[in-house]
Amino acid sequence: EELTVIRKFEHIEHCLKKQVEAHVTTQFENIHFVHRSLPEIDKDEIDLSVEFLGRKFDYPIMIAGMTGGTKGSQLAGKINKTLAKAAQELNIPMGVGSQRAMIRKPETWESYYVRDVAPDVFLVGNLGAPQFAETMSNRYGVEEALKAVETIQADALAIHMNPLQESVQPEGDTQYRGVLKALAQLKNELPYPIIAKETGAGVSMEVAIRLESIGVDAIDVGGLGGTSWSGVEYYRAKDERSKNLALKFWDWGIPTALSVAEVRYATKLPIIATGGIRDGIMIAKALALGANLAGVALPLLKPAVNGDVEGVIKILQRYIDELRNAMFLVGARNVEELRKVPLVITGFAREWLEQRIDLWEFLRDRS
Ligand code: FNR
Repeated sequence: EELTVIRKFEHIEHCLKKQVEAHVTTQFENIHFVHRSLPEIDKDEIDLSVEFLGRKFDYPIMIAGMTGGTKGSQLAGKINKTLAKAAQELNIPMGVGSQRAMIRKPETWESYYVRDVAPDVFLVGNLGAPQFAETMSNRYGVEEALKAVETIQADALAIHMNPLQESVQPEGDTQYRGVLKALAQLKNELPYPIIAKETGAGVSMEVAIRLESIGVDAIDVGGLGGTSWSGVEYYRAKDERSKNLALKFWDWGIPTALSVAEVRYATKLPIIATGGIRDGIMIAKALALGANLAGVALPLLKPAVNGDVEGVIKILQRYIDELRNAMFLVGARNVEELRKVPLVITGFAREWLEQRIDLWEFLRDRS
């Protein structure tokens, strides 16, 4: 149990101090808007609000789950409360990090609890998919899921899928057999929305179709191009053999832009585009490809660690300014209209998508 707590702390340390991002891109650079010289709208009339899982948010941005459970240092609690204050002020949703530590050590619950500072925020709890696997000893079920949600008064539960990270760490949970079936059962029993969430390697359309078939409420594609969990594990690896494995898989996965396109093409599920989102133009492109929200993690970690609420807001405000500007220049008054503007897809992104989806049909209809 101690191990889970220590591990979470090491993750934060490495994410703060080391280069943990992918060496390859999200592929948003290959998605192009077509500039519109006559936008035929006023920039001031642009409405950035969106609906997601029955709630309305002021901006189509989510603070992705990062932490919790590092008792003793109080660090996790400070990070979550700082992010929550920013989310409350902007009226955007936020997630907490894996609550595995809390399930094992209930006394760490406060490090995930933000309702005192963020009474209205749409809050997403977080548990790991392998914990629900058939072959897992002490496997999770609805009881643990309910505990995760209700202890912190969350509105939904994210189940993170992280086979990449687990596969490159020596102590990793590489049991994934029966997870889909377990999630189907959980979906029947849990009275809260479930978000299936990748953590940096992207969701393919095949997986998305299966998740939709069991009634999952939304998908966070957590694509390649931002934080690499294989990268983080590279720094944690103790011996050459583990270091080699983590390094080889540093850039494994489906780039975020392509994952959004695949999932939107193949399902009707609400999509959160997370993974390497680093400016508002990327957010605009993600939404234009069919995402409902864009999620951000790593860039917010540094101000959050310092308890700097204004610092978190400043980064998000910059993204919002850039998003609004991009929407103005393509004449989109709201996110729905942004889904209808023309896009041009070039290079690697085009090659990938031509082999995976009917690209021309997709470009005509991305709703
Ligand atoms: C994460 N992420 C994450 N995801 C999850 O589902 N459970 C978790 O416990 C964590 N923990 C975590 C810690 C830290 C320090 C970071 C930076 C990230 C993954 C996160 O939600 C997101 O999917 C990825 O980081 C990709 O987004 P960025 O970082 O490229 O914006």
